[in-house]
Amino acid sequence: MSKLSRDEAAARLAEIATIMAEADQAYDDAQPIMTDAAYDELRAENLALEKAFPDLKRADSPSVKVGSVPTGRFAKIAHARPMLSLDNAFTDEDVFDFVARVRRFLGLEEGAPLQLIAEPKIDGLSASLRYEHGQLMVGATRGDGTVGEDITPNLKTLDDIPHTLKNAPDVLEVRGEVYISKSDFARMNEGFEKAGEKTFANPRNAAAGSLRQKDVAVTASRPLRFFTHGLGELAAPLADTFSGSVEALEKLGFPPNPLAKVCQTSEEVLAHYRMIEEQRASLDYDIDGVVYKVDALDLQERLGFVGRAPRWAIAHKFPAEKATTVLERIEIQVGRTGSLTPIARLRPVTVGGVVISNATLHNQDEIERLDVREGDTVEVQRAGDVIPQVLRVIESKRPKTAKSFAFPTVCPVCGSDAVREINQRTGERDVVRRCTGGFICDAQASEKLKHFVSKAGLDIDGLGERQVDDFFRRHMVREPAEIFTLPSRQATGIFNVQGTSDLFNYKKSTKQGVAVWSNAVTNQKSIDNLFASIESSRTRPWGRILASLGIRHVGQVTANLLAVRYPSPEAFVALGEGLQADESPSREELTSIDGLGETVADSLRDFFSDARNEAVLTRLFAELNPEAPAQADDDGPLSGKSIVFTGGLTEMTRDEAKALAARLGARVVSSVSKKTDIVVAGEKAGSKEKKARELGLTVWDEAQWLQVARG
Ligand code: IVH
Repeated sequence: MSKLSRDEAAARLAEIATIMAEADQAYDDAQPIMTDAAYDELRAENLALEKAFPDLKRADSPSVKVGSVPTGRFAKIAHARPMLSLDNAFTDEDVFDFVARVRRFLGLEEGAPLQLIAEPKIDGLSASLRYEHGQLMVGATRGDGTVGEDITPNLKTLDDIPHTLKNAPDVLEVRGEVYISKSDFARMNEGFEKAGEKTFANPRNAAAGSLRQKDVAVTASRPLRFFTHGLGELAAPLADTFSGSVEALEKLGFPPNPLAKVCQTSEEVLAHYRMIEEQRASLDYDIDGVVYKVDALDLQERLGFVGRAPRWAIAHKFPAEKATTVLERIEIQVGRTGSLTPIARLRPVTVGGVVISNATLHNQDEIERLDVREGDTVEVQRAGDVIPQVLRVIESKRPKTAKSFAFPTVCPVCGSDAVREINQRTGERDVVRRCTGGFICDAQASEKLKHFVSKAGLDIDGLGERQVDDFFRRHMVREPAEIFTLPSRQATGIFNVQGTSDLFNYKKSTKQGVAVWSNAVTNQKSIDNLFASIESSRTRPWGRILASLGIRHVGQVTANLLAVRYPSPEAFVALGEGLQADESPSREELTSIDGLGETVADSLRDFFSDARNEAVLTRLFAELNPEAPAQADDDGPLSGKSIVFTGGLTEMTRDEAKALAARLGARVVSSVSKKTDIVVAGEKAGSKEKKARELGLTVWDEAQWLQVARG
């Protein structure tokens, strides 16, 4: 470090200040651009440089910022009781089902009372406040529900949160939602705008960005509020019911929500829902639904929870919000498997508090069905976090000049033919038009590379989408094999080319008109890390490697099945070659494997029919040294059983579960039929679980699955 000249050190300190300020901002906006480790490293480098050149210390140095948390950002904190999330209901029927489910679980007779509480679902972020002997000891974010972040000083700045309580149980954890009102949000953004600062997109983002500030003074200056909606650990109960507890909490100084209502029946909660929905627009805070909870705490205890959601509560969500705007252009995006997806570029419009400027149009048929044209005024809808959709065209507003959209029949990126394949068996045309360019199409090639390095692929740490794009554009990596030869090419100085610095999230900064780039000194560390993760990915399990290739219809489950039967690169390539011949024995051999069918065979045949693909694989396989697959266990506990996974699992991803089931001898299928042996229903399982129960199939919850899976 101190090997730097004085001038270099000054430039580097300036650069670090810029990078860290950007990183701080991004972190506060809940969109971090670097890992905690990278951040700490920069901080350490800054300190070391300041030690070597004390007089170069800058006024805006990251080491002198007030209120900064020293390292690792916020400390992690384990919740005494998990902070759960909620299952959703979208229709009245879902609500009736919920109440019926609760009554059945509790074994309530018809006509037996069941008191519920209905209250608005506030769109903010949840926090937990732990009081010991009447003192606020810890305030934490929800985090993943089990472990959150310690933001005690920040939460203490909220007027709604008392620091001390009189006559409270020795241990009392109060949970609730931190939010910003609509009017405060508008005022706050106005102020930012006047000051030329960045504004927030909606009150929720503003609340999140304001609360998780390292500088508590910033949090204190923001109009954050708190609304209580639950309890965590308790040394002694406050009351027998949730509504009683809320009253007790009010006496202790926690503001209740005035729209909370105690109800006795499904009809009554639904009436309250409608009342709240009507008031929604005029309420001064954003809500996205109404939460119903069983009021009696002993019943809540008995009901317990499944996965991460309590059986005793449900969130009844409001329907998606809509708006109209002008569709300015239709653009075509080319995906990893060559799919041409039309995207509507919209004149920006606010829908339910969020500005949207893009919507998906799905495919060519959808454009024809909607008869949507560039220049049309359209109705758009946004529901939750899903991609906004175009619902319909408002024809009366169509410009006279608007022409029907001509869906391209050649790929807009590489010019190859884009076709809608005919399914050989059904004779139907695929809804998706695909570019036939394969690896010669830049869009496909770079998307394939992104998939290859992603979590679903080889999971190469330090290679994100941005880096891949950058390597690709610079012709440094054009196909998977080239990732593995990067280290040996390093000597050629490729990483010192101006501009490659942003590969590691360090942006170019301009100081007095002069561009400053991160120098090779710091980047060397990131580069070393990247090379280490590239090295370690050479030995990934064979099934993972197959899935990372991004061949159509070959996801992780299929890849694992293939890996077991074709356990080496040579065997796999031989299969591909074998599939080229009509009536090939390879095809028969492949389709005789449980869980693999004609679709996969066709897809592999097509993939290998292009000699370039085989060449890409040969070059890649020369770089790899895969871990041999575990052979499927013929006498495994699930041997010969067909199994369906539905809903979310908390202990492993669904793909991991499927792979594990296959290894235990099961045939993993995707739809439930009477031939299905086992249905594993995780969190928020929906129609598949319902169908399984109707058919009287064996339905396991996650705990039962884990018991079998872990033997
Ligand atoms: S009850 C056992 N009530 O919604 C679950 N949650 O989607 C405790 N939320 O994590 C939550 N308003 O942050 C409950 N009236 C309300 C709520 C509410 C907002 C949030 C909460 C929760 C999330 C679940």
